Amino acid sequence: MCGIVGYVGAQEANGRPLEVAMGGLARLEYRGYDSAGVALVTADRSRLVTAKKAGKLVNLSEALAAQPLPLATASIGHTRWATHGAPNDLNAHPHLSADGSIAVIHNGIVENFAVLRAELASRGVTLVSETDTEVVAHLLAETYAQTPDLAEALRLVARRLHGTFTLLAVHVDSPSLVVGARHDSPLVVGLGEGENFLGSDVAAFIAHTREAMELGQDQVVSITPDEVRVMDFDGNQVEPRRFTVDWDAAAAEKGGFASFMDKEIHDQPQAVADTLLGRTDAAGHLVLDDLRVDEAVLRQVDKIIVVACGTAAYAGQVAKYAIEHWCRIPVEVELAHEFRYRDPVVDSRTLVVAVSQSGETMDTLMAVRHAREQGAKVLAIVNTHGSTIPRESDAVLYTHAGPEVAVASTKAFLAQITAAYLLGLYLAQLRGTKFTDEVTTILDELRAVPEKIQKVLDGAETIRETARAMASTTSVLFLGRHVGYPVAMEGALKLKELAYIHAEGFAAGELKHGPIALIEEGQPVFVVVPSPRGRDSLHSKVISSIQEIRARGAHTLVIAEEGDDAVLPFADEVFFVPQTPVLLAPLVSVVPLQIFACELATAKGLDVDQPRNLAKSVTVE
Ligand code: G6P
Repeated sequence: MCGIVGYVGAQEANGRPLEVAMGGLARLEYRGYDSAGVALVTADRSRLVTAKKAGKLVNLSEALAAQPLPLATASIGHTRWATHGAPNDLNAHPHLSADGSIAVIHNGIVENFAVLRAELASRGVTLVSETDTEVVAHLLAETYAQTPDLAEALRLVARRLHGTFTLLAVHVDSPSLVVGARHDSPLVVGLGEGENFLGSDVAAFIAHTREAMELGQDQVVSITPDEVRVMDFDGNQVEPRRFTVDWDAAAAEKGGFASFMDKEIHDQPQAVADTLLGRTDAAGHLVLDDLRVDEAVLRQVDKIIVVACGTAAYAGQVAKYAIEHWCRIPVEVELAHEFRYRDPVVDSRTLVVAVSQSGETMDTLMAVRHAREQGAKVLAIVNTHGSTIPRESDAVLYTHAGPEVAVASTKAFLAQITAAYLLGLYLAQLRGTKFTDEVTTILDELRAVPEKIQKVLDGAETIRETARAMASTTSVLFLGRHVGYPVAMEGALKLKELAYIHAEGFAAGELKHGPIALIEEGQPVFVVVPSPRGRDSLHSKVISSIQEIRARGAHTLVIAEEGDDAVLPFADEVFFVPQTPVLLAPLVSVVPLQIFACELATAKGLDVDQPRNLAKSVTVE
């Protein structure tokens, strides 16, 4: 939530500080788009200027075009997801100290802001905005007056704040310096030649450098054109870990597609293929990326709990079926925000798997911390390098989906499912519940999936036509069974997020226990039909469900496997997907539902990349 970018370079003449800030904000806008703002410091120490506008970044761009800012050497930029105070120009960041010498931007919530505000008021400081952030600008100015070292002053202020924050600050007297502090909110450093960068995540600067540095919890960073210094909140110097970002900068561009959402749906064959790449050693055994937990401990695991939010939680639900089947370990899937507050039964034999595209979702991070406090080992399945959740986990399996920019998740979902399958196969191999040749067979089946997804994408025009024809629909239901159940819920979530249509996903077997009451003449219902090659007559049971709702007037839209002609008499419309082994089928069957939501929302004239009220990376609880 809230995107943050910072830049210092030696030259002001070329306008680069503003260009980097605006470019970074464009890449971080998925984090919030209630308002955007920048602050620049000019090289002659004479001016600290800001520009800020409510609404999307385009409003700020237009304001800057109408009223250009002076050239500068340092910049900070912010894109806001409002917490304290309405999303208007006044509450937009940056916020200034009373004398205008310091500008501050902030991601997170300063929980003790009311106390600090009262304290400032008692000293005669007048606050102009309703934000919690503004108190930081004033406190920083007061502290700087006593300790004229911006990084040190920020460290002292940070120690007084409760809550979560990433803060960046610039001072009019220091045109080649940006300082930052982080506590429970993300911040990474980008390393350039004669210039350095700060960003909420690496997307902020991958257009300029792929060399980066991770910052830890409770650290203060100062960047100048030639130097990066880091200290902890106690003032001790810290040597941060460097890493190279393996994302291609072009991957964060639309590449000819009308939206990031459309592009990312089309990236999915690659996302799955890349997530599978390079996972086996010379002996054909699976390897995880960063395993800081003993294999002996993993052999002893007697329960797995997947913690995640939103789409990532549905990836966990898909994984449950496969991991339980392959490893014979019970798997629970829990929304991260519920997990922590219900006193979960967790001990040293529990493996908690945290699934997160951003690696920053606060609810998931808090669940990770809680699980580790209880003695559990935590394995993270994460897409974003340099993020917090992998750093705080015992093991990591990175998804290689590349940057996901559209707010609603698509390719990260498929990559998360793929990574979770790899984890399941790894554990099965380790614990001897599957022989190596069985694991190899499943891996081969997985490697065949990207081509199948491509086939769905190539044949998507029918689903698009259906979506366009349904642009005025007000309610859509989704039914699925077994692995098709989480697919149905994800299909419903995509439609809610993108098209603002009431949508619900149900387990098809549950239909008769209540949801069938919703069926009336013309009610559209998607049904994800399991493979007829699957076990336990599941296929025929779902066909019966279709008949039951059709008899009551439902308009049935059926996702079925190629060759499954048994569905034809009961479907108003059928979308066939290539045959895929039962447990792996969600990777293919969810794709038409993503396309449907994207196309329908587009037909309604909505912004599919930045749906209303949402943020991609939710860094508040
Ligand atoms: C937000 C996004 C969702 C995402 C969820 C979890 O709600 O809008 O698209 O699935 O967060 O995000 P994560 O980064 O942890 O996967």
